[in-house]
Amino acid sequence: MSKENTYILGTNKEELTRLEVQHKVWSSEAKRGWDLAKFKTGQTIVDLGCGPGYCTEELARIVGKTGKVIGVDRSDIFISHLNQIKQSTQLSIEARLSDFDTLLLDPDSLDGVYCRWALAWISNPKEILSKIKDALKPKGKMVIHEYFNFSTHQTNPERPALKKAIATAFKSFQDSDFEINVGSYLAQYFEELGMKVINIRLMPKLGTPGSMIWEWPKTWYQSYFPRLVSMGYLNNQDVEDAMKDIKELEMLSYATLCCPLMIEVIAEK
Ligand SMILES: C[S@@+](CC[C@H](N)C(=O)[O-])C[C@H]1O[C@@H](n2cnc3c(N)ncnc32)[C@H](O)[C@@H]1O
Repeated sequence: MSKENTYILGTNKEELTRLEVQHKVWSSEAKRGWDLAKFKTGQTIVDLGCGPGYCTEELARIVGKTGKVIGVDRSDIFISHLNQIKQSTQLSIEARLSDFDTLLLDPDSLDGVYCRWALAWISNPKEILSKIKDALKPKGKMVIHEYFNFSTHQTNPERPALKKAIATAFKSFQDSDFEINVGSYLAQYFEELGMKVINIRLMPKLGTPGSMIWEWPKTWYQSYFPRLVSMGYLNNQDVEDAMKDIKELEMLSYATLCCPLMIEVIAEK
């Protein structure tokens, strides 16, 4: 399955690099969630929508040789990247090329599930969570990191072209059949699925010029704004002006970039 446009942000080399920057910014939050869920040696854990496998690798170091991490993604480029990680590290990883809709997991077989930024791109997140729940052992835990409120994404001071491009990106998500702010629904979904929410926290991030946090949205602008041109939302001049705005903001020592607000929800079966 060689679909470049496997999800709205693509799965090409540029996206692979963007996800690496993203992982550097968010890795400590992921580890905090895994600690709270008590992920440990010997467990079997699924990394749902694992992408290139940056979290899969770290989870595999936690579960060790006696455990296993199953990284699931429908992008063959990302799954082959994960297979390379598996080969070079010899960690206990199973790289599974599958869509969530057709994913087969044995009932009561998993100790834990981690999922970051995967439910925001699908139209049936609750259905998928229900299916994953069936595969969890009793007391098994899901740690989910998703957007809570994308509209918090802004710069200070504001710049008109960049503001327009960010608002247009948000509009493109709202026009789609997925819910970008899926994180705000997770507690309700878990309640309805008969799972117990054991931890919930917001994860704000504010970038300043030159910081890794600032680079995260910037790499996303580089990849997604041109897509908005091909989707007919913006023109090339809009994108050029927005990228000029971000460059100008980088000259201001006091500029800040408020990232889209994320949430962690941990639930137990
Ligand atoms: C933003 S990336 C996040 C990757 C990874 N979780 C991380 O945090 O680095 C979203 C991933 O979900 C995968 N994805 C989206 N919809 C999917 C589906 N229906 N089935 C399987 N994978 C899916 C995409 O291919 C992509 O790799």
